[in-house]
Amino acid sequence: MLNADWSEVDLMSDNKKQGLIRGILSLPNDNPKKTVFVAVALCLVCSILVSTSAVMFKPLQQANKAADIKKNILAVSGLLTEEADVNSLFEQFEVKLVDLETGEYSDADPATYEQRKAAGNPEQNVTLTSEQDIAGISRRAKLAKVYLLKDGDKIKQAVLPIHGYGLWSTLYGFISFEGDFNTIGGLQFYAHAETPGLGGEVDNPRWRNLWQGKKAFNDNGELKIKVIRGHVDFKMADAVHKVDGLSGATLTSTGVSNLVNYWLGAHGFGPYLKNMSALMNTAEK
Ligand SMILES: Cc1cc2nc3c(=O)[nH]c(=O)nc-3n(C[C@H](O)[C@H](O)[C@H](O)COP(=O)(O)O)c2cc1C
Repeated sequence: MLNADWSEVDLMSDNKKQGLIRGILSLPNDNPKKTVFVAVALCLVCSILVSTSAVMFKPLQQANKAADIKKNILAVSGLLTEEADVNSLFEQFEVKLVDLETGEYSDADPATYEQRKAAGNPEQNVTLTSEQDIAGISRRAKLAKVYLLKDGDKIKQAVLPIHGYGLWSTLYGFISFEGDFNTIGGLQFYAHAETPGLGGEVDNPRWRNLWQGKKAFNDNGELKIKVIRGHVDFKMADAVHKVDGLSGATLTSTGVSNLVNYWLGAHGFGPYLKNMSALMNTAEK
């Protein structure tokens, strides 16, 4: 039977009462044609199932992703509680787009803008030189989203998206600033693939808390924030710009330090932060 050829199938399909499929199925189980037929049919059914569910669940996945981003923005601003209604709390934020080169707001609609997609589109991105690219991202979108928490006209907090390379992966997250656009409110990553227990400790709330209250810039407006190796010596005058490195994860720590410096620097949000802190200082006088 193993050596049976397709003529058997033809014979069976000639039979008016049996279709081609029935003909193949009626072959003995050790018939190679039946084996091939069953394998192909199984692959076809499975691929239809997988692609149908991928299409069906895509809107749900996108909604979950969007909810997760909102949750992280609330968390980095210290507004997330267990019982929080993420969507209604997030409505407090005003979302704007910033032209990173000028540091001015753009008229483009933030609701339809996808920054990660824009970063891959040559018409919407800029390529970084190796000197500029301390975050290891190669290119960045021209426009970036900012999330502003306001009290009347006064900005209480600003949340900025940041990303860059650690040891094994690109870390995506947010950094929040108080209304002076210098004091850091928090740092939070929502996606990375660093090693749990080593680089993955970037998610440890104890480490994340170390960022709170640190100053990104000194009195001369120079960017000074840095993750150092070991512990910060609080007797040093520049302790306010320094954060402890993660032990056993110096490479991830350096990556985080570099990506924060990129995004707060001249080729990231630097021009925007300068504009905003000048504006806030003038408003306070
Ligand atoms: C399996 C494995 C996973 C590692 N994962 C990380 C990591 O996620 N981040 C990191 O900085 N170092 C990681 N390391 C350690 C680095 O190779 C390197 O030794 C370390 O960053 C040096 O940090 P230290 O000087 O604080 O010990 C890993 C090492 C091993 C063997």
